[in-house]
Amino acid sequence: MSERDRWATRVGLVLAMAGNAVGLGNFLRFPVQAAQNGGGAFMIPYFISFLLLGIPLMWVEWTIGRYGGRYGHSSLPGMFDKMWKHPAAKYLGVLGLIMPVAVMIYYTYVESWSLGYAIFTATGKYWGNDTAASMGSFLAGYQGWGGPDNPFFSGISWAWLMFIITLSVNVYVLSKGISGGIEVVARYALPALFVLAAILVIRVLLLGAPDPAQPDFSVSTGMGFIWNPQLDQLADPGIWLAAAGQIFFTLSLGMGTIHCYASYLAESDDIALTGLATASTNEFAEVVLGGTLAIPAAVAFFGLDATQELAKDSYNLAFAVMPALFQKFPFGQLFGTLWFGLLFIAGITSSLAQGQPLLSFMQEEYGFTRKKAALVLGLIVFVLCQPVIFFVNHGWLNEMDYWAGTFGLVILATVEIILFAWIFGMKKGWDEMTRGADIRIPLIFRFIITWVTPLLLLIILGRWAILELPGKLMMTDVAEVDKPYVLGARLVMLAGFVALCLLVRHAWKKRERAESEVEA
Ligand code: PHE
Repeated sequence: MSERDRWATRVGLVLAMAGNAVGLGNFLRFPVQAAQNGGGAFMIPYFISFLLLGIPLMWVEWTIGRYGGRYGHSSLPGMFDKMWKHPAAKYLGVLGLIMPVAVMIYYTYVESWSLGYAIFTATGKYWGNDTAASMGSFLAGYQGWGGPDNPFFSGISWAWLMFIITLSVNVYVLSKGISGGIEVVARYALPALFVLAAILVIRVLLLGAPDPAQPDFSVSTGMGFIWNPQLDQLADPGIWLAAAGQIFFTLSLGMGTIHCYASYLAESDDIALTGLATASTNEFAEVVLGGTLAIPAAVAFFGLDATQELAKDSYNLAFAVMPALFQKFPFGQLFGTLWFGLLFIAGITSSLAQGQPLLSFMQEEYGFTRKKAALVLGLIVFVLCQPVIFFVNHGWLNEMDYWAGTFGLVILATVEIILFAWIFGMKKGWDEMTRGADIRIPLIFRFIITWVTPLLLLIILGRWAILELPGKLMMTDVAEVDKPYVLGARLVMLAGFVALCLLVRHAWKKRERAESEVEA
């Protein structure tokens, strides 16, 4: 096999890993989750989840990844197979192939909206429509379900074109490899992202209370909503599930992408400090930057009650409420363009990470060149995104997000922590994790990884299985007309999973045959 690609510099690695984690989740999903789950009530479970699930899993995933990389594996089937000598291990790893691609399919689409909106804002296409309702109609038109009377768009061509461009950029960067593509992009994109976010944060903080007649409509009301702890809601299990779910999504845990990036480390590169740096960078971007932008800005212009109402739908806040409020202050067009530019940059460094596991799999198990693998990946994403695009108002996108981007993460995290702590074994696991470490991981984390994280995950899964799963499976909340689409999305994901299991099986057979020929 040819020489493995590697991260060229440590700075590049940290930026790429941070780029993986910092994404739409930080600026779009976090504010909405916080708003929907009672603001300050959400933050306590959120930080506890970060400490007891986020940080330990981050280290575990880096460790599994670096370990797998040593044997030439950059995707989970190969990694799990090395950790657990059981024929089932590699199929469990298929979760780490199907889920990131499934997320990539709808994530690149949302990413492409921000590209479209950056252009519309810069050119003033929607200027003059400064209510959340009119911008909602603009969004519906853009997404192609605004009906024949939509004043803004007559079809889906804009959305479709933006998607093609976004996907092509992703495929192009991925075809350039780890150090030549992802790392190069991260070195420019991450600093740019932080500069853009800082400018926007300052702008929002200076908004104060824009309407003197409505002193409660202010940034400080918004900040207070997010930050004043509300202890009385701590017993609500729904809030805990949402908080843990957000920690997974935002840190890219339970996906296979952190493992994949970590597999391109050298054998005794530090994990402890760099993993922690990744997690902290993400939390800064999420809580400080993401937490200060959308919600406080919306509260300043629309008030707290309306904001909580408007933030019911994650895309509404970013793509309807925000463009409405940018029209209400000087230089709003400039700041609006920066906002959507920020989303696009945050998105792309994450979608690259989502594409890499399957790409590495094709290279390593099927001998594809990087370019060919990138093209095949692009084709898959292109085809499977069509129903996402055309049936977005029937819930296709949300259905994929639910299984691959919410529930699946918890499943995969549970599988990997048990594999790591209990099958691979904590003794070996700890040695592996701390080798080459630049800081000492406090010993308490050995206990947390062995007991606390797995138990918490099992509790979360159990609660979920009782509270949510039955209704979800039976589609109790789904409107009758949408049921076929929801079912369609599920079947496509299931088919993808089965297909990948077959490919893994075939690849392993092929390798066993090759190995026995060498021996003979
Ligand atoms: N963490 C990314 C975000 O916050 C999303 C992501 C999920 C990226 C899974 C890679 C894998 O937007």
